[in-house]
Amino acid sequence: MTTANTKTQAESFTGNLFLIGFMGSGKSTIAAELSRMLHRPVLEMDEEIEKREGMSIPAIFSEHGEAYFRQLETDLLKETSALGGFLVSCGGGAAMREENVREMKKSGIIVLLTALPETILERVADDENRPLLKGRKNTADIEALIEKRRPAYEAAANYQVATDQKTSAEIAEEILGILEKEGMIS
Ligand code: S3P
Repeated sequence: MTTANTKTQAESFTGNLFLIGFMGSGKSTIAAELSRMLHRPVLEMDEEIEKREGMSIPAIFSEHGEAYFRQLETDLLKETSALGGFLVSCGGGAAMREENVREMKKSGIIVLLTALPETILERVADDENRPLLKGRKNTADIEALIEKRRPAYEAAANYQVATDQKTSAEIAEEILGILEKEGMIS
């Protein structure tokens, strides 16, 4: 798979690609990498929600509570499903609601990015923007959270891509292969 024919790929990419996975699994980085390759826009769910609410994710959690945030995610996914051609970087909890997964599957495919707890810890160590990791930045807590979520992540995913010790370009190429196989790009 090469990127020489990106123009044709971009033109033929009309569905949505939903990247799901735990915090720090690489969704944002890979969506950005794919965006460069396919010339399609990224929808960064957290960023879009922050923009619309005019406050940060931690502020939304502390002022309105997690349930409020989860409903914003569902509303945004419903809007996105009605559109196409987006590389959607989902919030780490977005695939936990079956309703959300149904919405995603209406308009595209779901790729789960995975990473070992050690890798996750390395990637999130300096980040203060994730309320669910407050006081839990250690491999044991991260592993426990991942294990709790794993069944829902795996049930939701059409494909899984492991990200440990791979470059962004390598991961993106793997996903291009998936999109090609699915007939979403040619
Ligand atoms: C969350 C993940 C975050 C953000 C919120 C909740 C989760 O997104 O949506 O802090 O429940 O896993 P990222 O996965 O982009 O960090």
